[in-house]
Amino acid sequence: MADMTDTQTGRSPVADWATDYDIFDEAYITDPYGIWAELRERCPIAHTERWGGSWLPTTYEDVTAMARDIENFPSGNGISVVPPPAGSAPGPGGPILSSGVPPISADPPLHTWTRRLVLPQMSPARVDEYEVFTRDLCRQLVDGFLERGEGDVAAGYAQQIPVRVIGHILGVPDEMAPTFTEWVRDVLEFAHDAERRMRGITGIIQYLQGALDERTANPTDDFISELLQSEHDGQPIERPVVMGMCALLLIAGIDTTWSSIGSAMWHLATHPDDRRRLANEPELMPTAIEEFLRAYSPVTMARRLSHDVEFQGCPMKAGDRILMNFPAANRDPKAFPDADKVILDRQHNRHVAFGAGIHRCAGSNLARMELRVAIEEFLARIPEFSLVEGGTVTWAGGQVRGPREVPVTIG
Ligand code: HEM
Repeated sequence: MADMTDTQTGRSPVADWATDYDIFDEAYITDPYGIWAELRERCPIAHTERWGGSWLPTTYEDVTAMARDIENFPSGNGISVVPPPAGSAPGPGGPILSSGVPPISADPPLHTWTRRLVLPQMSPARVDEYEVFTRDLCRQLVDGFLERGEGDVAAGYAQQIPVRVIGHILGVPDEMAPTFTEWVRDVLEFAHDAERRMRGITGIIQYLQGALDERTANPTDDFISELLQSEHDGQPIERPVVMGMCALLLIAGIDTTWSSIGSAMWHLATHPDDRRRLANEPELMPTAIEEFLRAYSPVTMARRLSHDVEFQGCPMKAGDRILMNFPAANRDPKAFPDADKVILDRQHNRHVAFGAGIHRCAGSNLARMELRVAIEEFLARIPEFSLVEGGTVTWAGGQVRGPREVPVTIG
């Protein structure tokens, strides 16, 4: 048989999505909706041997049941959709982050108390404080679009916001934003490229080591200093745990929110009726935000089994990876009528873009605020914009899916 290997990626084309799916296949990254629809009918929990082997549930019922069943589907064995780079030590964080990145990579009891430390930072009252900074930032970015008459709403707008907001919260200097963005992309988007993944993790850790030393010597009022001064069971928190928590906030808060804002902006650029409706009826914003989160959910997390589990007849083995396909759950027509349609005033929308169960996103208040403010500020001054004719739109996928280039013209 002729060798069908793709010369660019070095991988063979997908033979059957039910038994050989590839989450890094271009077709899956740019348009996974038809693939999920076919799988829900034919094989609702797919399997592949690629990328170390994994299972892919596609229905709302299965994904939410698995997310809530932490006994059978724990997070402590690894949450990455691909195995750690060859040669790295076992454990949730690989060789450098010896305590992993809690709470997301932890099971109780470590999960419970580390989550409790993060939640107050992301409370509605705290998020209200961060809104002023976010709105100013969005206004400055919109000024740039108006001056130029065009721009890229993914790279030049969505990508610029979350990294600076989380940097502001953690006390990271603004000029580090592009470097952090690259590191986070290395860890999440290029997780299948061992060299890039290691470069990203190492960059983040080395930066945080310096930041922790500095805050230990001269505490400030930022989150890193607060964590360093916190206690658990009457003891200061061990440094690897503080390191892991800070790394998580950087990683979890950047690519995810940027992808959500980018998808919403792409939708508005390509759906003029929805764009005009939202610009003219800003009271639709709360339901529209939830609908963008549902329809373009960016995040797929993984679980790794400690023991054999039979789930819906699938013989899952200890060590198998399960992809928590929140994006597909949110497109399941059994849970959402007209699931593939974006309905700005959708009334019943119990989406799981932020996950379900004990690991449900701790930053959802912050993410929602950033998404709302980004759209409000853009539409308020640029209600008319559309894709540049012949311009290239690109998407990234894997652990976090969203557009990376969306060139638009204004007016
Ligand atoms: C639209 C943007 C975002 C989306 C779609 C999103 C999605 C998710 C999902 C699906 C999970 C669950 C993971 C799992 O079950 O394994 C999660 C967990 C988490 N997210 Fe987010 N996230 C977003 C933004 C943020 C932001 C801005 C932050 C904070 C800076 C954040 C911090 C966290 C943390 C700390 C966890 C771990 C919670 C735990 O394990 O208890 N996220 N997120």
